[in-house]
Amino acid sequence: MTLAEARAALRAARRVAVLTGAGVSAESGIPTFRDALSGHWARFRPEDLASPDAYRRDPEMVWQWYAGRYRDVSRAQPNGAHHLLARLEREKGEGFFLATQNVDGLHVRAGSERLVELHGNLGTARCEVCGAVAPLPDPETFTPPPTCPVCSSRMRPNVVWFGEFLPQGALEAAAQAFGEADVALVIGTSGQVYPAAGLALETRRAGGTVIEVNPDETDLTPHMSCSVRDVASRGLAALMAER
Ligand code: OAD
Repeated sequence: MTLAEARAALRAARRVAVLTGAGVSAESGIPTFRDALSGHWARFRPEDLASPDAYRRDPEMVWQWYAGRYRDVSRAQPNGAHHLLARLEREKGEGFFLATQNVDGLHVRAGSERLVELHGNLGTARCEVCGAVAPLPDPETFTPPPTCPVCSSRMRPNVVWFGEFLPQGALEAAAQAFGEADVALVIGTSGQVYPAAGLALETRRAGGTVIEVNPDETDLTPHMSCSVRDVASRGLAALMAER
């Protein structure tokens, strides 16, 4: 499928499902996970930070890492890709669904509303005892760990760690949206983490069109109807251009 055909398919689509990954926030200055030099996992081992064992072993160190990421994302601004996806939602209305793997909250700050945050959100914490979720305080003055406003127990970062389940209902809603989509967009993800990466294949399996926007090839590329080899903001702009 050519770019022109992909553009026409997106324009004609009544139902559009979008999966985003860390690459959509790269142009906001937020490091991805697996990009060789800048990615988080290039400098840390994920098991040492983003896992229940790491948190059990050293909650202080894990909280320090997340408090630093929370500060970074709070200082970052949504980029063109986030704004274009918020515009696409306004154009498609009820037929639009966004599933993000990102925990940086930038889609919400760009105005996206019809979305699920599959891996949680850095700006909130979850009580280890009663499960209450609360927003974190001002990132510039926040000193972890936060305590639960309901039962005063210690709270943990409200993100999905390796080996943990995704938020209740989020995955089901996403699987349904991708299974019904005429067009799925897969933007800025290496497609290595399931079940999120499998969502785009639901659209393919149901006979829909799947379009990837990524400067590099990914594990999902062979399954795509069209791959736009560009950064998220330019690739999306090309797909959403009038002609
Ligand atoms: P990765 O770091 O695995 O992949 C980022 C992707 O973005 C790569 O394919 C890059 O080529 C691409 N990329 C880089 N710059 C880009 C740009 N400007 N525009 C578009 N794409 C760009 O990040 P994810 O695929 O999001 O999970 O990782 C998925 C999950 O693995 C994360 O949600 C996290 C991590 O473990 C949890 O935290 C549970």
